[in-house]
Amino acid sequence: MNDYPRPRMILDCDPGVDDAIAIITAARWADLVGITTVAGNVSGGQTSANAMRMRDLLGLDVPIHRGADGPLSGDLEDASHVHGADGLAGVNLPEPKGDPDSFDAVEFLVETTRAEEGLHLVPIGPLTNIALALRADPGLAHRVASITLMGGGTGGGNVTAAAEFNIYVDPEAADMVFRSGGPVHMIGLNLTNQVRMGSDHAATCREMDTPVGDVVTHLLEHLIDIHFQWEGSDTSAMHDPSAILAITHPHLIASEPRTVVIELDGTHTRGQTLVDERGPAAGDPNCRVGYGVDTESAVDLIMQAIREA
Ligand code: BDR
Ligand code: CA
Repeated sequence: MNDYPRPRMILDCDPGVDDAIAIITAARWADLVGITTVAGNVSGGQTSANAMRMRDLLGLDVPIHRGADGPLSGDLEDASHVHGADGLAGVNLPEPKGDPDSFDAVEFLVETTRAEEGLHLVPIGPLTNIALALRADPGLAHRVASITLMGGGTGGGNVTAAAEFNIYVDPEAADMVFRSGGPVHMIGLNLTNQVRMGSDHAATCREMDTPVGDVVTHLLEHLIDIHFQWEGSDTSAMHDPSAILAITHPHLIASEPRTVVIELDGTHTRGQTLVDERGPAAGDPNCRVGYGVDTESAVDLIMQAIREA
């Protein structure tokens, strides 16, 4: 039984293997008002198709609106070397039928947050759509309950020594979001790297013997392989699902107010989220930064979402 209220959220994503697991997690624990897609892990066309493949798999009745095909500045540097050419590790899922509900994610974000205040906005890809929506309507920042994003972190990066992928791909967009004045909550690598799943979880998913269990088995085995090649680890971080849980189960996450700026010009540090660890003493914080997480409960809730999908 879910003892928690189901927060209402718009998920902005770039599926993406861990995005796919985040969609499963959100479908179980939140009321998904809509899904917007953005180019990131793979192209805009492919991330939108993958969101629709996951919607079909889960039988969700949620609109999907395709958004930006690349960052505000420069060309997309994708992560197909991590997520596979199709973004979902070549999983056996049918191509979606038809088109997304619209090709205007920005309009959906603006109009939906006007029609209903207090939604959570959950970006788990590059922040391009959110920045474009803020440019179109800066008031959006003050109509949402939170902008709870997976990106950045308090330590090093995963694309460069300084930058995490979602921020690295579109630092100008991230800069707009962090300077928006809205209730930004950063769930970065320092937190998400603590929430890990391994081959025992993949085996449990296989034993479920369900379509969703089989898909997640494939996704997890792919992620575990990649992490093994990179760092000899036999587990993989659950980056994007952690951002979902920060809203659906906030008591699992310990966050602190911080001033965070995005490095736009550094020779070696473009895309870094520079966190002022002096805290409120440094001035008016623009962000809450996630630090601690109850990892066991987080993984249990992800597994429960997969089992009950
Ligand atoms: C983030 O980068 C992407 O590749 C993942 O989907 C996640 O959103 C982790 O750095
Ligand atoms: Ca992602």
